[in-house]
Amino acid sequence: MIVTTKQLFEVAYEKFAVGAYNINNMEQTLGLFRGNLQSKAPFIIQISKGARKYAEVKMLEAMIRAAEEIFPDAVFAVHLDHGDEETCYDCIESGFYSSVMIDASHLPLEENIAVVKRVVEKAHAKGISVEAELGKLGGVEEDIKVDEKHASLTDPDEAAEFVERTKCDSLAVAIGTSHGAYKFSGGQGLHFDRIKAIQKLLPNFPLVMHGSSSVPQEEVKRINDAGGKIPTTAKGVNEEEFAKAIPLGVTKVNIDTDGRLVWTRVHREFFRDEPDQFDFRKPGKVFMAEYANFIAHKNEKLLSAGTLDDVRKTASK
Ligand code: G3H
Ligand code: 13P
Ligand code: ZN
Repeated sequence: MIVTTKQLFEVAYEKFAVGAYNINNMEQTLGLFRGNLQSKAPFIIQISKGARKYAEVKMLEAMIRAAEEIFPDAVFAVHLDHGDEETCYDCIESGFYSSVMIDASHLPLEENIAVVKRVVEKAHAKGISVEAELGKLGGVEEDIKVDEKHASLTDPDEAAEFVERTKCDSLAVAIGTSHGAYKFSGGQGLHFDRIKAIQKLLPNFPLVMHGSSSVPQEEVKRINDAGGKIPTTAKGVNEEEFAKAIPLGVTKVNIDTDGRLVWTRVHREFFRDEPDQFDFRKPGKVFMAEYANFIAHKNEKLLSAGTLDDVRKTASK
């Protein structure tokens, strides 16, 4: 059942965070649905502009529609990740997406507000939820790299004004995370004081945490032992911190990089250990099972595991 992110957030707020996972291909899609059902969790499928280009818009939609039929118990939102204005309109018009993110965080405040207002107007007219972003995360996203000193945390007063004026349904905030596998070194942790200050001015309003992968050292080591060259200095979010961020209003947690690391490790190890193999379905099968377990594990940490029946009841009212 496809629902809006707003419907998911109404059930989740302060209790659990909904995992938002990016998909690009069939193996990820099957692993994603299996892992969420395995852990009885609602979820958000995220589609980036890069995914729309790589897998073709029609193919992605057909894959998700097929998965919906194969897994009738799944409850999920279909969400555009880091959209620009034009792609948001495309998704809103398509009638398929239940949620879009308009990412105009690189623009000055007034321009960001103006763009988000236009998208909200069109999306809400069709019952589609809108996520916007304020503040600057670090890391690499859509080929744009923001280094540590140019990243800036979201200002709470600006956030309150932004939500009031734009009427967006959720807000991606910069609270110490960064995108990609080459995250900030040092493991500085989440800025809980900042999240608290934002929640104080925006009570009951869902906050979104981007760049929430952990980049597990063990995973990076296994990839490098099998021929990879991923820097070992990067540190992501400590998974134990999700539970502390949830009562402060963090209701959507975006994870992509950690899943890519699972793919890379499975395939590097498979072809290292079985150099005579060329049937890609063999590592594909291993990946799907491991990806499902990975999703189930993340859902445990996000406290969304086991909430599916409640969410279905509330969402189908
Ligand atoms: O934040 C970006 C997501 O990880 C999606 O990455 O734009 O390379 O598909 P992508
Ligand atoms: P990671 O790169 O930390 O997985 O973040 C993904 C993300 O924020 C997608 O929007
Ligand atoms: Zn992101």
